[in-house]
Amino acid sequence: MTYALILAAGKGTRMKSEIPKCAYPILKKPMISYIVEKLEQTNNVNEIVCVVGYKKEVFYDLLQQRVTFVTQEKQLGTANAVLSAKVILENKKGTTLIVPGDVPLMSTKLTDKIINTHHASGNDLTVVSMIVDNPKGYGRILKDDDGNVEKIVEDKDATYAEKQIREVNSGVYVINNEYLFDVLKEVKTENKNQEYYLTDIVNLMYGKYKVGSFVVRDVHQVMGVNDLYQISIAERFLREDINRVHMTNGVSMVNPETITIGYDVVMEPGVTILPNTTITGKSVIKTGAIVGPNTEIHESEIHEDVIVKHSLIFDSTVMEKSTIGPFAHLRENAIVGIGNRIGNFVEIKNSQTGRETKAAHLSYIGDSSVGCRVNFGCGSITVNFDGVSKHKTNIGDDVFIGCNVNMIAPLNISNNVFIAAGSTVTKDIPEGSLAIARGRQVNKTDYYTHLIKPKPEK
Ligand code: UD1
Ligand code: CA
Repeated sequence: MTYALILAAGKGTRMKSEIPKCAYPILKKPMISYIVEKLEQTNNVNEIVCVVGYKKEVFYDLLQQRVTFVTQEKQLGTANAVLSAKVILENKKGTTLIVPGDVPLMSTKLTDKIINTHHASGNDLTVVSMIVDNPKGYGRILKDDDGNVEKIVEDKDATYAEKQIREVNSGVYVINNEYLFDVLKEVKTENKNQEYYLTDIVNLMYGKYKVGSFVVRDVHQVMGVNDLYQISIAERFLREDINRVHMTNGVSMVNPETITIGYDVVMEPGVTILPNTTITGKSVIKTGAIVGPNTEIHESEIHEDVIVKHSLIFDSTVMEKSTIGPFAHLRENAIVGIGNRIGNFVEIKNSQTGRETKAAHLSYIGDSSVGCRVNFGCGSITVNFDGVSKHKTNIGDDVFIGCNVNMIAPLNISNNVFIAAGSTVTKDIPEGSLAIARGRQVNKTDYYTHLIKPKPEK
């Protein structure tokens, strides 16, 4: 049996954030969710154990039944974090893959390779390392004359000469469970941080057990994240990876360096994404859609041949052949029907529209059910809030709403209705009517000359 042990109890002081580090989002998805997902996808791992401590409730909420939780009461160091899993792992035969909760980009393929190499080599401990240009912050790998890993020295404790070593510890290890907890007992806190360092197990095992290293070539897969600058670097790597996969699958991206697509977004071939666009969450973009420039979409579905320009779409759906924007805002389960035109400065919240409905300029449609072929004139709005609660507006099919109409909810407007421009509608409108709800116009003739009396001549 192979177990995976994720170390996620630390606060992440260097992040200077309220969010515990391992739950910090990368492309709007918590770091730890990437790690757990990749571990779930390998057949090599039988159980995932997660060490939590600082703000542990955040992790309970995020991961629920997907992992077995253990608590590290005080964050005394990485060796102490592993020790907290003793209750679960001590009597389990097999190996444990130890993964820091701040190494978010390790693929399932690499995970499998590491585990398989460990087994094939007959190692008791495999240290996963990498060779980097800038080793600052990482533990340095010290090897003996035969090339065996002898020791890991932390950045803070390293001498000048040791600091020049560019092979560093990724923090990922595979270890035989039989020895793990015996060795951990021997770890002391003789270092600058006065912490129990997991890295010390290397030297404790050296010479007595078989300790090997696995050098990762694709360095970014095992990079550690300690501060917000490193978050941005991890984000860049991930973004480039995701964009490459979509482009090779037939998604066209113009200026892809400016485009951010979340890990869980599904895009069909034949989609075009224009610059400065961000699509995140479990969004789906269907073929023929053109999205961007300057657009943000989260947790939404964009159907075939939709055009979205300069707009925001959150938790919403746009059916095929509709156009959205420029400068539209759809949110909280807005469902835009087929062939709609939703234009400049139109906001739609918690509402559905039927086929071929149009709101081309300056409208607010909230808590409404709108039929087919409805035309919202410029500036017409549903007045859904009376200061205390929200109310619903129902609008039938083939309704023509003039400009600057206020529809005060709760309100039912039947099919085939006209509403005169400038009306403030407070009563239901029966089928086939023209509703006019505004002051009548009065023209006072000769008013201008009456008001502005001619000046007396000098
Ligand atoms: C660690 C390694 C370092 C390696 C680097 C790779 C040690 C001593 N150092 O350093 O050699 O190059 O990772 O990224 O292991 N954690 C706990 N409980 C604790 C302390 C930490 O759960 O008491 C967790 C943290 O939440 C984090 C992980 O362990 O996810 C690593 O801790 P961190 O403090 O980031 O270690 P580094 O200084 O990066
Ligand atoms: Ca770290």
